[in-house]
Amino acid sequence: MACPCLNCSLISPFRPAVRGVNAARKFLSCLLLVFAVFPIAPAQAQARPAASLQGPSPTVIQGGIADPSLGPKVEALLRKMTLEEKVGQLVQYSAGQATGPGTGRTDYKDMIGKGQIGALFNITKARDSNAFQRIAVEQSRLRVPLLFGLDVIHGFRTEFPIPLGLASTWNPVLVEKAARVAAREASATGIRWTFSPMVDIARDARWGRMAEGAGEDPFLGSAMAVAYVRGYQGSRLDAPDSIAACVKHYVGYGAAEGGRDYNTTEISEPTLRQIYLPPFRSAVDAGTASIMSGFNALNGIPASANAFTLKQILRKEWGFQGIVDSDWTSVAELIPHGIANDGATAARRAFLAGVDMDMVSSLYHDHLAHLVQTGQVPEAAVDQAVRNVLRVKFALGLFEHPYVDETKEDAAMLRPDYLQIARDAAEQSFVLLKNSAGPGGAPLLPLSKTVGKVALIGPLANDSANMLGCWGALGRAEDVTSFQTALLAYLGNESVLSSKGTGISEGSDQEMADAIATAQKSDLVILALGENAPEMTGEAASRSKLGLPGRQQELLEKIVATGKPVVLVLFSGRPLTLPWAFENVQAVLAAWFPGVQAGPALVRTLFGESNPSGKLVVSWPRSVGQEPLYYNALSTGRPANQQNGDPKFVSRYLDEQNSPQFPFGYGLSYTSFRYGPTEIGSKQLKAANLNAGLRTAKDVALTVTASVTNTGQRAGEEVVQLYIRLQGTSVVQPVRALKGFERMTLAPGETKSVRFSLSPDAFAIWNDHNQLAVEPARVTVWVSPDSAHGTPADLEIVP
Ligand code: BGC
Repeated sequence: MACPCLNCSLISPFRPAVRGVNAARKFLSCLLLVFAVFPIAPAQAQARPAASLQGPSPTVIQGGIADPSLGPKVEALLRKMTLEEKVGQLVQYSAGQATGPGTGRTDYKDMIGKGQIGALFNITKARDSNAFQRIAVEQSRLRVPLLFGLDVIHGFRTEFPIPLGLASTWNPVLVEKAARVAAREASATGIRWTFSPMVDIARDARWGRMAEGAGEDPFLGSAMAVAYVRGYQGSRLDAPDSIAACVKHYVGYGAAEGGRDYNTTEISEPTLRQIYLPPFRSAVDAGTASIMSGFNALNGIPASANAFTLKQILRKEWGFQGIVDSDWTSVAELIPHGIANDGATAARRAFLAGVDMDMVSSLYHDHLAHLVQTGQVPEAAVDQAVRNVLRVKFALGLFEHPYVDETKEDAAMLRPDYLQIARDAAEQSFVLLKNSAGPGGAPLLPLSKTVGKVALIGPLANDSANMLGCWGALGRAEDVTSFQTALLAYLGNESVLSSKGTGISEGSDQEMADAIATAQKSDLVILALGENAPEMTGEAASRSKLGLPGRQQELLEKIVATGKPVVLVLFSGRPLTLPWAFENVQAVLAAWFPGVQAGPALVRTLFGESNPSGKLVVSWPRSVGQEPLYYNALSTGRPANQQNGDPKFVSRYLDEQNSPQFPFGYGLSYTSFRYGPTEIGSKQLKAANLNAGLRTAKDVALTVTASVTNTGQRAGEEVVQLYIRLQGTSVVQPVRALKGFERMTLAPGETKSVRFSLSPDAFAIWNDHNQLAVEPARVTVWVSPDSAHGTPADLEIVP
């Protein structure tokens, strides 16, 4: 089918295979047009303050994009450039298998020779990137090297858990290591730019892209954003194994109404400043080289034409000096958004709002020079955008080292130390949701090796491809050790029975009957159920029903009816609404999509060689009607839990509880932990002092301590969380807000004290004068295992 848009002659709708999804989406775009991984950079403390909400970034990172030595080089080159060459630096195309859809162009080589392209993406072989680079560096007039990009989202060839899983580790040090591995592998093919991390706050499990981010919380999201940026960019951007990060999708994209991808967003300024912006701000402070503007309209202005967020906040308030890249054809999408009626207007609006580089639309290529020549766009604005691009290219050392060594490409992949990090990450990403008594009266998990015959049943039991998640880059199914392979290796062929039961989306009666017969022959069943990663999670994969797809619920109920003990391992890119399972299955483990080491990590966890320590980074809903569901909701005037109040006229559902199935921060262990009371270093703080502290250094405003004891029989890791609530402020605040976390290891019986130092920022809000300030307030503080528990301590902020 040919594309009906007027701008291109697209026939095939397919996107590059590297996306791991089938690619009809690009077609849609057209429709719309009608270590030794070390050294790593020093790890940040896990209980670090959230990014401040405003003020220029104070950091000049040597070897980063703000390095002062870059300025003279950029200016010298800029002075030599013609207007056409300048515009060329602002043009980006996809040159992978899906050459050109969305633009109708295939003549990249010719364009590169003429200096008309600044960046290419979706090239995945060193040989190919060198070939394109040779044209830029040896044939174009000014020899400006190309920047090669790719969506390296959760690994390049060594695939790690999906970002939602990586965040569930609450371990930024580990995430930084994973990002470093990805940078090393990707850079071995000439890629020096990744469109990652996605730092969009996701409060609605219907939105498929929840899988690609760090969940619903801005504090955790900030810590993860920094970890990825540091991992990708290393200690110096010009090291050959460093790649530039691109934080996306700026901003508010995750707030799509109804959880429907690409849908519009309405976000108040306090919520924008306090919830959606902080992870971006943290990434900017950590030195991210680029930012991607989103597809969504934000309060009526598309994010890719939004001068308020792109110029006022990003450039003026934060002092960002890197590239603002559009998302895929998001410049052209200003036309269907309805704020431009032709390509020239779309280009002008996006460009003047602050989008430096046009990904795929080709509208800057087609119109920008003419817009300058006719006085509709000042050439000075073009110069500034070109500076932003050249600064990144110089910072990456591309002028000195434009090529990659093709002979080292293969050896750079899947190294044993990388696989070890992948296994650690997978193990720490698993969240144990339920673990009730098995046949002997003790919790069903961990299993004993002498459990007897184990039936491994379900569509994801022996599925390698899905373990690669929604955006597997160059990950290959054959690189994955599947669950079944690992279980057979661990228990031996004699002890493992297997049956598919059903496919993910459909299955036959015969398959179902076979699975029931298999279960009946076993002593225990492990069910591997869930979503299809590339089809049902990630981009353009919103769902209105969040149960198990196809006949999997039926399979689950029939297997439980056999009376065998059942362990349910869930593979998904979001929480699934499974009230029946949580009621009737003894043990449930959320495994997300764990990456290449899925099998070994799962077997080690189920058999107790690794103790689960992951915690939820999204509130787990009971039913879809609760969405959007997030722990840090704003207080209402009629809270459902009000004491001695009217039970009817409160904020609640008639047919569902308000509380989630499992709260944000929740996750069980094979041991148990007891928390001592929350202790605070002061009962009274002065708002004036805190406000002064906001603008100066990172003072410590309050110390908070609590003791945590391992009360069980096994060593375990616990993620200790610190929350606060402010009451009496000028703008309504969340009922709880995460302000610190610490992952700690405790031997059986051991007690440790955890100490958090809160900076003034922790108490700052975006107030009714549209300013960041600390206001007099009553403060409640909890140190707790999740967002729903903990003993409170109270203090006051006085004027
Ligand atoms: C996605 C981005 C991605 C880009 C390039 C877009 O469709 O929204 O996240 O980086 O494509 O592949």
